[in-house]
Formats: sequence, C-alpha cells, structure tokens
Amino acid sequence: MAKMWAGRAEGATAKAADDFNSSIAVDGRMFAEDIAGSIAHAEMLAGCGIISYDDLGAITEGLNGILADIGSGALAIDPEAEDIHMFVEEELTRRIGDAGKRLHTARSRNDQVAVDMRMYLRRESGEVVALIKQLIAAIAGQAKATKDFIVPGYTHLQRAQPIVFAHHLLAYAMMFVRDAGRIGDAVRRMNVSPLGSCALAGTTYATDRTFTAKKLGFDGISMNSIDGVSDRDFCVELIGAFSLVMTHLSRFAEEVVLWTSSEFGFVELDDAYTTGSSIMPQKKNSDMAELVRGKTGRVYGDLMAMLTVLKGLPLAYNKDMQEDKELTFDALDTVKACLGIFAPMIATMKPNKANMYRAAGKGYINATDLADYLVGKGMPFRTAYKTVGELVALAIKEDKTLEELPLESYKQRSELFGEDLYDAISLSACVRRRVSEGGTGAASLEKQLRFVEEFLK
Ligand code: ARG
Repeated sequence: MAKMWAGRAEGATAKAADDFNSSIAVDGRMFAEDIAGSIAHAEMLAGCGIISYDDLGAITEGLNGILADIGSGALAIDPEAEDIHMFVEEELTRRIGDAGKRLHTARSRNDQVAVDMRMYLRRESGEVVALIKQLIAAIAGQAKATKDFIVPGYTHLQRAQPIVFAHHLLAYAMMFVRDAGRIGDAVRRMNVSPLGSCALAGTTYATDRTFTAKKLGFDGISMNSIDGVSDRDFCVELIGAFSLVMTHLSRFAEEVVLWTSSEFGFVELDDAYTTGSSIMPQKKNSDMAELVRGKTGRVYGDLMAMLTVLKGLPLAYNKDMQEDKELTFDALDTVKACLGIFAPMIATMKPNKANMYRAAGKGYINATDLADYLVGKGMPFRTAYKTVGELVALAIKEDKTLEELPLESYKQRSELFGEDLYDAISLSACVRRRVSEGGTGAASLEKQLRFVEEFLK
C-alpha cells in the first residue's frame, strides 16, 4: 500500500526497508492509547474551529469502531503496517474518507508516540505496583507466622547474631515499599502531555494543548515542544525503578535458593513452585527463584541499552528512539512476570522452625551478648570483646557451644562471670533483649508490620 507520507520520494521503499523500519509488532499493544489520543485531539481541533463538528462526529465514530473491532478480534492489527499510529489512521481513512485525512492537522507522529508511551506506561506502572503490593502482603503474612522463629542473622554469609525470621523477611518488605514509591515518582514526572508539539516547533494553528492534556488524564503539558517529543528520560527512570525491583527480587531469590538447600533447610517451597530433575529422582529445585535471579540481567540490559540509545542523539526526534518501546516493554513484561510468580511462591513456602533454631545454636552467634553481659558487670567493651573471643576459641577447641562450657572455664577468664550468664546468652533472651528501634525485638516487629499494613491499605 502507498504510504500516507508518500509524496516527495518517487520510488517505493524496498520490502526489506519496510520490514526493518516497522515497529508494529512492538507498538501494536498501544492501540487503545493511540485511539484515545486521536479522539481527544479531534475534539480539540473541533473546539478550536480547526475542523468541523461533522468531521469530528465521523472521526469519533470511526475511531470508536476501530477500538471495538480490535477488541473483539473483528479487526486484526496488520503486521505489515509501519506502526500503530499509521495503522489506525489508515484504517480510519479507509472507513470514513476525507474526514480521516483531517485528523492529522496540527500534530505529528512524534507527538503521538510520546503521548501513547506515557499513557501506556502510566497504566502498566499501576499494575506493577499492584503486583508489588501482592508480594509485600505475602511477605507480611509469612512474617506474622514467624515472629518467634529464631534464625542466624548473617554478615559475609557467616552466622553473626540471632534474629527472628520475621525480621529478615520484613527487610525485603521495606525494599519493595520503596520500589513502589520510586515507580510512583517516575510516573508523576512522566505524566505531562507532549501532544501538540507538532513534531518539534509548535504550530501556527490556534490549538489548545491543555484541553487534550486534561482529557487524557495528564497533570499538565510539556513546557518545551522539542523536549516533549525528544526525551525518553521517563523510560530510563522507569526501567531504572524496575531494575531495582529486580535487584531486590534477585537477592531474595538467591536466599530462597540457599534456604531450600539441604545444607540450610530453612524453608520448603510448595510443590507448585518447584521442579524435579530429569535424572536425579531426589531433586526438588527452586527453578522459579533461579529464573527470577537470571532474568534480572535482562532488565539491567534494557536499562543500559535505553541509556545508550539516547546518549548521542541530536535534538529532536531521531528514529533511534523507536527502540525505546522494545526495551521498556521487555523490562515491564519481565518485572511483571517475576513479581507474578514470586508472590505466590513466598505466600506458600513453609519455613522450618527446628532447622532454623539448630543453625542458630551453632556458630557462636550469642558471643556479642556474652560480651554485653560483661559490659553490664562493669568491664570495658573492648576488654570484654577479647575475653569472649578467647572463650569462643576454647569452645571451638572443645567442640562445645558457649552454653555448654562449664562455669569454671568462664571464671578462669573473669571473676565477673556468674551462673546468670547462661540465661543472658540463651537465644530467646538474645532476641528478646534487642529492644532498639528497628531491631529484631517484638515491639519493633509490630511497628514494622503496622507500617507495611498501612502501606497496603
Ligand atoms: N514508530 C515511530 C516510533 O516509535 C513513531 C514516530 C515516527 N516519527 C517519525 N518522524 N518517523 O518512534
């Protein structure tokens, strides 16, 4: 078919060039936004006396018909079309004739693509935040059930201090709360309408950009017509926010893989979210978590690619920018798929209290508490630290825990030790006494859960 923009060139484009140039396979998903943008634009044109109300009637009816027909499947999006903007306009003109040809007055495809993207991403971002909330709810549910599951807290993946599992889980809840906030921030900055930039310079028609912006749910209009059509910083910001979601998912995924290993045995995943091995009958693999960890690389790649597409582009629009959709949509689809599988996987996992406690019992994770015991009896912390270090070395040599060392071994190192030391270093006491704000103690856990539940409202 002849191009709507045919005119200047005498020869036809090569088929290979058409295929290479086409973005319909990627941008076809924005058909509803493209049609909504066109209806608002036509209403503005009629309101400003640029087209007649008869034409507006025909355009609106035609576009609504196209929207309904794509929705019902009666109209297939033509894979040979150049992009969704041309497809809709060509189909409209086929249906209503000359009125359809008036629609493109005082706008450009550069406006359309920038408007459609913002509207599409705005809506989809809401879905990502809803998925994040589902995950946070799953985490909160597990946290409520594991407030007294004592487990080692780690640094350097070495057992460090006793905590409860709920506290560890809630750390992730806090990260995902921030992720949702970051997406909201990006959407707020993105939500201005570039419609009416008219390719780059503005227009000689007396248009009303604020009308279309309001109609399409934007908070305002872009202040500079060049900026409005030529930046894709909103894509970068959004993929950046998605990248951090993936970072947090990936760390969580890594821990799920560790926790479900026989070496840890802290957690068992529901059969619904594991796979078996084709050769080793005993295996139950955490493939969902591993895939999430693996897919994190894709989203980082999308971010890097999007930044690189933009870095050398002169103002205003360049065709390089058509790449924005493939990258942003890939990041979007990936983060949605990962959140979608992670939330039910976490909701249905079974934490193993006994195995956690067994791990907490080894590794001398109450050594800090023993030092604090001596400090409580008047010893300076550094001296207490050294004394306890020697006691840990002795316990390791004798293959004992600190609780199993006899009182006389303690007394030999300091007269400050008394029978009450054993209570002071019991794991439940260690957890209970961590009363500082934000710590693993009970009051802090309640406060964290209240914060999370408030966020979910
Ligand atoms: N399909 C194009 C894109 O996604 C639409 C904008 C085309 N504008 C142009 N001047 N060729 O970027």
